[in-house]
Amino acid sequence: MTNASDLIAPHGGTLINRIATPEQTAEFLSKADSLPRLTLDKRATSDLEMIAIGGFSPLTGFMEKTDYLSVVESMHLANGLPWAVPVTLSVTEEEAAPLAEGSLIRLDDPTGEFVGVLELTEKYDYDKEKEAVNVYRTNEDAHPGVKVVYDQGAINLAGPVYLLERKAHPLFPKYQIDPAASRALFMERGWKTVVGFQTRNPIHRAHEYIQKCALETVDGLFLHPLVGATKSDDIPADVRMRCYEIMMENYFPQDRVILAINPSAMRYAGPREAIFHALIRKNYGCTHFIVGRDHAGVGDYYGTYDAQHIFDEFDPGALGITPMKFEHAFYCKKTEGMATSKTSPSGPEDRIHLSGTKVRAMLRQGELPPPQFSRPEVAAELARAMKQS
Ligand code: ADX
Repeated sequence: MTNASDLIAPHGGTLINRIATPEQTAEFLSKADSLPRLTLDKRATSDLEMIAIGGFSPLTGFMEKTDYLSVVESMHLANGLPWAVPVTLSVTEEEAAPLAEGSLIRLDDPTGEFVGVLELTEKYDYDKEKEAVNVYRTNEDAHPGVKVVYDQGAINLAGPVYLLERKAHPLFPKYQIDPAASRALFMERGWKTVVGFQTRNPIHRAHEYIQKCALETVDGLFLHPLVGATKSDDIPADVRMRCYEIMMENYFPQDRVILAINPSAMRYAGPREAIFHALIRKNYGCTHFIVGRDHAGVGDYYGTYDAQHIFDEFDPGALGITPMKFEHAFYCKKTEGMATSKTSPSGPEDRIHLSGTKVRAMLRQGELPPPQFSRPEVAAELARAMKQS
């Protein structure tokens, strides 16, 4: 058993809980038809959920302008805590006009279900191009994260939120382990050091290699695939989760590894998102966080190791969680195992590495990725999913 004091503190010191109490829920439900109503998109719905369960601690709601600007300009909240990605709720000017600061706003999910409430404290306009250039390092709308910013409304609504009810995830209830629960699990297992792993892609052998290298030096591995919104050509979360289940059954020691879902949406903000991802895992109780090649990158927008270098711009104590940085891993034919350029004597001709795009193309043509790239059971699952889609 580990004690609560042995666990890493959440970011900002307190694990935020913005799930409405039964009394608050009853009050909100009684006002359901009289409150002004907003329909959230998939990302904002995830953000609401992440704020409520403490995954985004210390945030208690959507960012006010001082925090927003401070994050965009200097990667810190106005109170000085590191924070690298804006968490905002954007609406059009027409939608914002009738909403009065100081009022409660009913928040519906994309299906129209009443899921939360915003205590509107501020409405503000913002500079989309500045957000794009500072956060995403480009103003091109070909970047999927930038496109979201350009397409969203011109006004941000800010203020604390409440989630009406913590519902079981419709697809992965077994893996819905919220920060309070993951912290309790780590304590139960006696883990003092835990490494978190972010991913939005099907697990391959390079992932497995860096996960296991990291696990060699800590007590536990927290596999935390992102299941919120991703771009349309990424492999769907249910397929990725099945691949992880296969890995858990066959290739991971059950007592050292926990598989759980991360409900957040991808931003594809590369280096800044690596900081964001690390802080989320700190809130789940991880002491360490894996950052490999081109973490949370897309296209050619970021240098291979930019997401590692960005950690040098922060005070390690203020960040609290320790990055574990890995070189580009591949299968080395010469040593017949996974390796990186740090550990392999081979030249490029002896290295097997496949890009996600290449793997998708192979699967589409009915070819299986080789066992040096993907565990055969995972390759078979991907092929099966590809046939059905
Ligand atoms: S991400 O958008 O979530 O970063 P992905 O699921 O591909 O995408 O990566 C998960 C983690 O594994 C990231 O830290 C990434 O840098 C790392 N990674 C992916 N492929 C490799 C590889 N071949 N070598 C080293 N690290 C890798």
